[in-house]
Amino acid sequence: MRRAPARIERFPAPETDGPCDAGYLVRPPRRPDAAASGVERPCTACAAEAPRVTTTVTPFPTNLIPSSASRAGDDPIFALNAEAQRRAKAGESIVNATLGALMEDDGTLAVMPSVIDAFQRVPLKKAASYAPIAGDVEFLRAVIADLYEQGPLAEQSVAVATPGGTGALHHAVMNFLEPGQALLTTSFFWGPYQTIAQETRRAVETFEMFDAKGRFHVAAFEEALVRLVKKQGRALVFLNSPCHNPTGYSLDESEWTAVAEVVRRAAELGPVTFLIDLAYARFGSRASQGWAKHVARMVDPALVLVAWSASKSFAQYGSRVGALVATHPDRAERERIANALAFSCRGTWSNCNHLGLLAIASLIAEPAQRAKADSERARLIALLDERVSAFNREATAAKLAYPRYEGGFFVSVFTPDAETTARSMRDDGVFVVPLKGAVRIALCSTPARDVPRLVAALAKGVAAARAKS
Ligand SMILES: Cc1ncc(COP(=O)(O)O)c(C=O)c1O
Repeated sequence: MRRAPARIERFPAPETDGPCDAGYLVRPPRRPDAAASGVERPCTACAAEAPRVTTTVTPFPTNLIPSSASRAGDDPIFALNAEAQRRAKAGESIVNATLGALMEDDGTLAVMPSVIDAFQRVPLKKAASYAPIAGDVEFLRAVIADLYEQGPLAEQSVAVATPGGTGALHHAVMNFLEPGQALLTTSFFWGPYQTIAQETRRAVETFEMFDAKGRFHVAAFEEALVRLVKKQGRALVFLNSPCHNPTGYSLDESEWTAVAEVVRRAAELGPVTFLIDLAYARFGSRASQGWAKHVARMVDPALVLVAWSASKSFAQYGSRVGALVATHPDRAERERIANALAFSCRGTWSNCNHLGLLAIASLIAEPAQRAKADSERARLIALLDERVSAFNREATAAKLAYPRYEGGFFVSVFTPDAETTARSMRDDGVFVVPLKGAVRIALCSTPARDVPRLVAALAKGVAAARAKS
């Protein structure tokens, strides 16, 4: 295989030996797609004298595999936030309702002093040591008790530590779906569900989240779940409630009852794994906290998972403390699940942040610390609830269309053209996140005093979208 010479140069002695059919040793291209850049070297026999022939080297466009070569880099929400901050720095009055972290009214991050104390109490050498692969037993016990206290569900649960709820979602996708299969979630959903699915070579399918009355669309859920179990031979559902991101919706008692029935029926057709994403649950209304009793009705025949996270409930977004909890009545199955999840920990991040695990475990398990954390969280919940009330008051008066909203970091307002609505709002200095069919408003980062301006901009933005469509 000879190539036409493009340039003739003198070369030093070759690195590889062996005669070639025409006086040259031809090295195979280093990559199969790199035929044009093969390098020819003189064979030993004529190395000293022979001119070396090279072809023009075509640079490799990328070393990434094709599926990674065109990934979007920055999360679009972070890009919007960056623009809001830039304009605010330049002196403009800006309402930035994009980012999902709870902010004080003065714009600083809301934190819990008891949590910071707990971090400072962890012995430094202990914090510096590796955490067990699956997480410290004290932490895992504390998380399970946080969900199910000491009852039968707690006895039927196993858990592994994960870096935030995100890690829990990852492990669920890796272990309860085959490559190529799809998880099922609501039509409005947190974008990283898609990222995690794509990263793990799985997919996302959705069902219409709301029915004509604006309630959780139980019939659409059942239809999609049954179809998926039949098609895939198994199903994994992600349900983010209470305080769904991005809509703010929390299922009520009758919706949970209906969902549990759907899951029970579908699980007769094949293995159904039902994951409750509790990322924002602590900020939900009292009525929304009754989800646990419905778990009791779903476990057996279904497997119930909970993605637990300290990011919002302990205002510790950066510590990356979370867990995946699996509840099943059969001990052997629990053991298989615990082993599989621990294996996934080893195969991804190995061990979690030990400092975070130890500190959060003590905050849950030690009554005095827990009481202090609960009272500090109550202040944060009240701060958010004031914004939620202001939003409900103003948005109802402005006749905005949005789902039932009783608490939580976000709410979404429906619009026929989210990009137009968000652009119109940005022109007025108000930043929200455009979704398909709605814009997401992060009340967690919007002081109550800014809500009237936010709602006025929303009403104007929705009107602009209506006029265009
Ligand atoms: C719906 C939802 N689930 C899970 C998470 C996971 O958060 P973390 O990994 O910080 O615990 C988030 C974070 O924003 C979220 O919005």
